Amino acid sequence: MCGIVGYIGKRHALPIILDGLKRLEYRGYDSSGVAILTDKGLSIKRKKGKIKDLIELVEHESIDGTTGLGHTRWATHGKPSDENAHPHRAGDVVVVHNGIIENYTELRSALKGRGHHFKSETDTEIIAHLIEDHIKSGESFEQAVLSAVNQLKGSFALGIMHIKTPDKLIAVRESSPLVLGFGNSENIFASDMPAILPYTNKMLFMNDGTMAVVTADVVQLTDFSGKKLAAQPKQFDISPAMAEKGGYKHFMQKEIFEQPHAITDTMRDRILFDTKEVNLAEARIEEKLLNSLKRINFVACGTSYHAGLAGKYIIEEMTGIPVDVDVASEFRYRSPLVEKETLTIAISQSGETADTIAAIRLAKKHGSSVLSICNVMDSTIARESDHVLYTHAGPEISVASTKAFTSQLTSIYLLAIHIGRRLNRIPKQQAIKYVDTLIAIPSMLDNILKQEDTLAGIAKEYSKHSDFLYLGRGISYPVALEGALKLKEISYIHAEGYPAGEIKHGPIALVSPDMPVVFVAVKGRVYEKIKNNIEEVKARDGKIISITTVDGEEIQKLSDASFFIPETDEMFTPILSVVPLQLFAYHIAVLNGTDVDQPKNLAKSVTVE
Ligand code: G6P
Repeated sequence: MCGIVGYIGKRHALPIILDGLKRLEYRGYDSSGVAILTDKGLSIKRKKGKIKDLIELVEHESIDGTTGLGHTRWATHGKPSDENAHPHRAGDVVVVHNGIIENYTELRSALKGRGHHFKSETDTEIIAHLIEDHIKSGESFEQAVLSAVNQLKGSFALGIMHIKTPDKLIAVRESSPLVLGFGNSENIFASDMPAILPYTNKMLFMNDGTMAVVTADVVQLTDFSGKKLAAQPKQFDISPAMAEKGGYKHFMQKEIFEQPHAITDTMRDRILFDTKEVNLAEARIEEKLLNSLKRINFVACGTSYHAGLAGKYIIEEMTGIPVDVDVASEFRYRSPLVEKETLTIAISQSGETADTIAAIRLAKKHGSSVLSICNVMDSTIARESDHVLYTHAGPEISVASTKAFTSQLTSIYLLAIHIGRRLNRIPKQQAIKYVDTLIAIPSMLDNILKQEDTLAGIAKEYSKHSDFLYLGRGISYPVALEGALKLKEISYIHAEGYPAGEIKHGPIALVSPDMPVVFVAVKGRVYEKIKNNIEEVKARDGKIISITTVDGEEIQKLSDASFFIPETDEMFTPILSVVPLQLFAYHIAVLNGTDVDQPKNLAKSVTVE
């Protein structure tokens, strides 16, 4: 949802900002722009399209300056165009913005009444005019920004420059992420860490309602009343290489292949390898909460929501605790029956998804404790939760989530075993069995990944179809949903996930040789039932692709194409069955020539509702 970069220091700002924008391009990629303060004055360049189009525009120009702002856009107000691209300027004030200004119409007409002229259709442009208005009435740059932000309603991360105050930039955060990077005689801020990592590991995630005045040497934080706050950066143990492609064609492919590692890293230090006990002391779930626990409620969006759906099967099966799962954007606008005895679990790769943030705030208001499963350290959701369980998947850059999903599942297994043991719902020997099963998953995954060519072959055969049905039962139902989501996200092919037992209530009417049906049919309690569903589709001349367990030969006979995964405890199969579906979707997208890592209309981090 838009990416921001701001740099002030001793180096040329333009290459640093362009590099930062490339690293943030996953956040939005319909237009981009830069503003650099040069000796000759301000240079603003904006371009519809991807960052490469902006680079082409500026590469033969000499835009030398050591202070600048950059922006990559995901349009909300105003279509993608050169004019609507950021930065926006009003007089001497230049602004880049991530978020939505909800009261922009009234502010715009008030400003028009005061003689301001607008050149774009964006909500952002009013911010530049508002600050300019305050400066004109005699306020300092800092004071004008504070006055303006106090008039804004909505979500905003801002980078602001004032041509007449060239020794500083201002960064503001309210409900949209912003990270400050502390360098040596240089400082940088951005919407996410990858843009900062090549320059410094010392970072600070800004809090809502704060402003940072950033010079090359000093960062001064204040709240929106102007009260000074301490700016204590933390050292983050992440290298820039972790956010690079490393020889793979796409980030998505790299991230699919990183899964055995990501899962192992997520388990590391949480399983005591001698006793096979799960230890999640870091999440600090108090005895009092556990003993009073009546219900668990997952809230999440997108792929993370699918992890929550699988979590329902896993936690109910292992612990007997009732579990509900909500899409965060639904949860936040109904009257949820959440109370003190409910543990709300928010799942979020980025930790910045606006709807999930709103959902946890609402859950807390109802007295519920919030535990989050997050991939990004110190992100908003992590900071606002009472308990945090980090997935250690490393930076996920591809818009389509893969390794975050399987790491989230890994965290859910650990959590279920941990809660189950502490409440005595899982006997010790059973818990050891679960842990052994989990430990074996990464090497099973390695074997699946070695068969990428088989999946690429199946993808080739089916890449020209325009509709797919994905079916699963029990714990494989969320996997079917996730497989369908992967295909539609990156290949733009219509794909529908459905519980296989429900097809006779509708989807079976669609079955024809033109609509392949992907079955996730693993050994377990509903194996015979899903075999019947496959028969039903076969009897109607449906084309069948099956993901099944190694001894599923009967299913192979019924299928036009099959892929085998190793047999394991049914509850642990989602990690193994989803990876072939990720690869299947990936290869179909590559064959169809879509932009795999940056699919149209999507963004990695949805920081607006
Ligand atoms: C966007 C991304 C998805 C992601 C979802 C939730 O839609 O494109 O890949 O699953 O947001 O994001 P979160 O960071 O909260 O997991």
